[in-house]
Amino acid sequence: MKVAVVGGTGAFGRGLAARWREAGVEITIGSRDAARARERAAVLGVSGATNREAVRDVDLVVLAVQSSAAIDTARELAPSLGATPVLCVASDLRFEHGAVFPGRSAGSIAEDVAALVAGPVLSGFQALPAAQLAQAGLLDEDVLVCGDDADSKQNVLDLGQHLVSGRAIDAGPLANSRALEGITAVIVHVNRKYQVVAGLKLTGFGD
Ligand SMILES: NC(=O)c1ccc[n+]([C@@H]2O[C@H](COP(=O)([O-])OP(=O)(O)OC[C@H]3O[C@@H](n4cnc5c(N)ncnc54)[C@H](OP(=O)(O)O)[C@@H]3O)[C@@H](O)[C@H]2O)c1
Repeated sequence: MKVAVVGGTGAFGRGLAARWREAGVEITIGSRDAARARERAAVLGVSGATNREAVRDVDLVVLAVQSSAAIDTARELAPSLGATPVLCVASDLRFEHGAVFPGRSAGSIAEDVAALVAGPVLSGFQALPAAQLAQAGLLDEDVLVCGDDADSKQNVLDLGQHLVSGRAIDAGPLANSRALEGITAVIVHVNRKYQVVAGLKLTGFGD
């Protein structure tokens, strides 16, 4: 499987790239700057290219740019993306009066991205901390992935299972990205309040 991680020079994209490379996935990380992509890629042992070049001829594109740039980047890359599935990992946050809130009152970044690109859009991994991805071992949590296309969702769930010791869970249609993106504010609050690095785990699966 070939995966392009757009904005893969950032902490989260690098974490995904490193883990999937170990699992045998062919990875290209993308950047707005080709030299920066190649430099970071060399450290990770993957390929590096501009975002536009990176998304060519791959099976999945992970949109891992800074969340405020996710929609504009999807719009810019749409002609190069064609019908390739896109995984959106972004969530908006709003910091106000010392507290953290979901950045949106309606919809989700992933649904906005889906309105711009031709291929199926998936959303997931919002609760995985980049700092933990950079450490050794599987993360002791679940990954949740939503989307409207069953085949591409299964591919992303399979990729997610390379990241965690918990379950890769189908979280329903793409509209549920509103909840997945919203939970990030809860996690950031919990991390601050309890001085922890919290993750998500669902109970009730029977073992
Ligand atoms: N950090 C986490 O723990 C975490 C956890 C779960 C999900 N996420 C999500 O993962 C995504 C990446 O997170 P991150 O912490 O890695 O972000 P980041 O380091 O702030 O940004 C990632 C990359 O985005 C690119 N970028 C920055 N501004 C841009 C712009 N205006 N237009 C296009 N590209 C731009 C940069 O790449 P170049 O300068 O090389 O182009 C940068 O290396 C976000 O959507 C975030 O919500 C993060």
